[in-house]
Amino acid sequence: MGNYLIKLRDVEVRYNNRNGGLVAITGINLTVSPGEVVGIVGRSGCGKTTLLKVIAGLVKPTRGEVIYNGSQDGGGFRGIGMLFQSPLLLPWRTVLRNILLPIELRGEDLDKYVGRALELMERMGLKGFEDSYPWELSGGMQQRVALCRALIHRPSLLLLDEPFGSLDAITREEMWVLLQGAISYENYTTILVTHDIREAVLLSDRVIVMGGRPGRIKAEIPIPFRRPRSLELQYSREFNDYIAEIRGLLGD
Ligand SMILES: Nc1ncnc2c1ncn2[C@@H]1O[C@H](COP(=O)(O)OP(=O)(O)OP(=O)(O)O)[C@@H](O)[C@H]1O
Ligand SMILES: [Mg+2]
Repeated sequence: MGNYLIKLRDVEVRYNNRNGGLVAITGINLTVSPGEVVGIVGRSGCGKTTLLKVIAGLVKPTRGEVIYNGSQDGGGFRGIGMLFQSPLLLPWRTVLRNILLPIELRGEDLDKYVGRALELMERMGLKGFEDSYPWELSGGMQQRVALCRALIHRPSLLLLDEPFGSLDAITREEMWVLLQGAISYENYTTILVTHDIREAVLLSDRVIVMGGRPGRIKAEIPIPFRRPRSLELQYSREFNDYIAEIRGLLGD
């Protein structure tokens, strides 16, 4: 029932290691609606990456289930785009050929996607760098290339794992603007894991606070500001009240 894109029901992930097993996350219930941007914050080791991996299907839940529902826009579930902390570009491929990699791996016709790749590059401020190599670009530019690659096949769900953690503060703000633009332009459903509470509040419709060992969802804070949001919102009283509330929840 209900209009959702993905639903996690009582999900637990246990890793088996030399000392027996480690339960990384437990009792996770989460429903994400189409077009929603969900931020996830929590201390190091509380299972945020594990949660993204289980949503991406890279790790199987040892309890509970993950349900994908791709029917609300008439099509099926069109897969997932992922962006990690480091851009993970292939150094021997040009920028354009890095962006087209997911299409190549799917065995689809590359020519059909060149126009889309160039359009994404233009929107990300990368016009003219098609034939450059990743090592000729700055860190922020490389991360923008990785974002184009994550979006090239119009995924149903965009998963971001601390995508801007290695960038300086100003470049990170520029990425917030570009990411918001990309998300609103094609209405991406997005899950954003971040250490940066400011980033979570500025970009998300809802912030999930995780904590404990094993990791659980401790709180969910709706962030009702209309999207897209301007960078100036960070200086408002209301915005900073959300920051303080979430900071408090992470503290105990
Ligand atoms: N492949 C694995 N095998 C065994 N244990 C793992 C594995 N991956 C993660 N863990 C453990 O599971 C717990 C959660 O790890 P996870 O990487 O999900 O945390 P995180 O919240 O993403 O941390 P960070 O903020 O540092 O990225 C940790 O205790 C970690 O050591
Ligand atoms: Mg992590």
